[in-house]
This record gives sequence, structure tokens and C-alpha cells, in this order.
Amino acid sequence: MKLQDKVAIITGGSSGIGRASALRLSQEGAKIAVSDVNVKGGEETAELVKANGGEAFFIKCDVSKSSDVEAMVNATVENYGGLDIALNNAGVGGMMQNADQLEEDAWDFVMNVNLKGVWLCTKYELPVMLKGGGGSIINVASIAGLLGFRGNSVYSASKHGVIGFTKSVSLEYARLGIRVNAICPGFTETPMVSNMIEEVPRMGEYTLKSSPLRRLGRVEEIADAVLYLASDMSSFVNGHSLTLDGGASIQ
Ligand code: NAI
Repeated sequence: MKLQDKVAIITGGSSGIGRASALRLSQEGAKIAVSDVNVKGGEETAELVKANGGEAFFIKCDVSKSSDVEAMVNATVENYGGLDIALNNAGVGGMMQNADQLEEDAWDFVMNVNLKGVWLCTKYELPVMLKGGGGSIINVASIAGLLGFRGNSVYSASKHGVIGFTKSVSLEYARLGIRVNAICPGFTETPMVSNMIEEVPRMGEYTLKSSPLRRLGRVEEIADAVLYLASDMSSFVNGHSLTLDGGASIQ
């Protein structure tokens, strides 16, 4: 087992990439604090982990609120005694509107969840990891953090921000035993993408055509990369943004 006795927080753990990662990390021995604003889905994820022989609990947390994030980290320490791994994954998809159509509230909402949320989680996770002698933080960016995304500038800006933040924080804590990396998934089969396709049907064809593999990513494929970055298999990887998109972004 690659993560025996390790403790992991997963934000946005109610569905999609977060849920798959909770299951994957727990298969390797990690105890999981599942958090999300979606209580039903989060409790289901914790139950799924337990049904597969793992350990997990759910705590409700809106990552854009510092008091929630602090409570999430405290609850993890109370339950499991420390923190070794954090998957800062919670995110929202953005509005599919050109910049002049975007309302200020919509901009703030996406930035607060996708970028401020990653900072807030990191801020409260770091002291516990430092106390325990190290850790691995994985921030979920996107290929929209590497490329422009016509019609969703706020999402793209938030994910570019996650990558810049990841690079900077990785420099600050490298010598203290904490590695900080990001992942950049391409279109992946999750509720976020199915909702986007429902809203803008032409995106369905685009998501397939944009990938050289002519398919969406599977959440299990993303979770395997999370396991790699969470474990000592990636002990010399720091400040990196790992692209997982079947080659979509190199065209
Ligand atoms: P998802 O919609 O299944 O999962 C996102 C989760 O975040 C949901 O459970 C949602 O309730 C939660 N969430 C939303 N706002 C929150 C908040 N304020 N506080 C706490 N939890 C909150 O979608 P998916 O695809 O699994 O998304 C996970 C991450 O992956 C997101 O950061 C997303 O931007 C990113 N991503 C997804 C891609 C895709 O194609 N599915 C591609 C690239 C990145």
C-alpha cells in the first residue's frame, strides 16, 4: 500500500474527480476527509470508501469561506491526528459567456471558489503538514489553466491563477518537506462537463473532437495521477502542473 496510515483531505469530494480520488487514495491505505458543499453526495462518497474497506468521514465545507475551511482542517486533525495529503479539487465551471456579458457577481463567484478556495485550503493545511514534518498538496487546475478558453475567460483566469499559485507555494515550502503540484485535466466525464453540454449542446461534439483520443477522460485516469502526486512515487516532483488530456493541449 502506497499511502498506509496517511491522512488526506479531498475538497469537492461529492462527485467526479474528487470522489474517484477518494476511492483511489483509500485503496492505498489513506484515511479520507471528504468535504463539499453537497452534503448528500459527500456522505455517499464517505460511505462508498467505507464499503470498500477504507476509512472516511464527511464534513460540509464551502472552500470560499475561511471559517468553513478552518473547521474542515480542524475536524481532520481531530479525527485522524494530522494531515499528509490535500487534494484541493472543489471547483465550479464558469458561465460560458463572453467577457462583456459576464456579471461582476459571476466573476467573483468563480474566482472565489476556484482560486481563493485553493489559497484558503492551502493556508489552513500547511501549518498542520508542517507540524507533521511534511506533506503533498495537489491543486486541481485544468487545461484551461494553460490555454485560452473562448467564452469562459473567468474559468480560464481562475485556473491560470491556480497554476501560478502552485508554482509560488511550491518554492516556499520545498525545504520544509511539503511538495505542491497541480493537475490539468482535459475534458473528463463528470457532472461538470455533462452540465456544460446540457447548457451548450455544441460543446458535446467539441469535447470529443478536441482530443486526439476522440474521447473524454475518465475520472479513474485522473485519480491515478492524483495517487502518483500524493505518494512518494513523485518524491522529486514539485511545482509541476501535470497535464492529463490525451494530448488535446499540444495541438
Ligand atoms: P464535479 O462538479 O463533479 O465536482 C466538483 C465538486 O465541487 C462538486 O461536488 C461541487 O459540489 C463541489 N463544489 C463546488 N463549489 C464548492 C465550494 N464552494 N466548496 C466546496 N465544494 C464545492 O466536477 P469535476 O469535473 O469532478 O471537478 C473537479 C475539479 O476538476 C474542478 O476544480 C474542475 O474545475 C476541475 N476540472 C474538471 C474538468 C472536467 O472536464 N471535468 C477538466 C479540468 C478541470
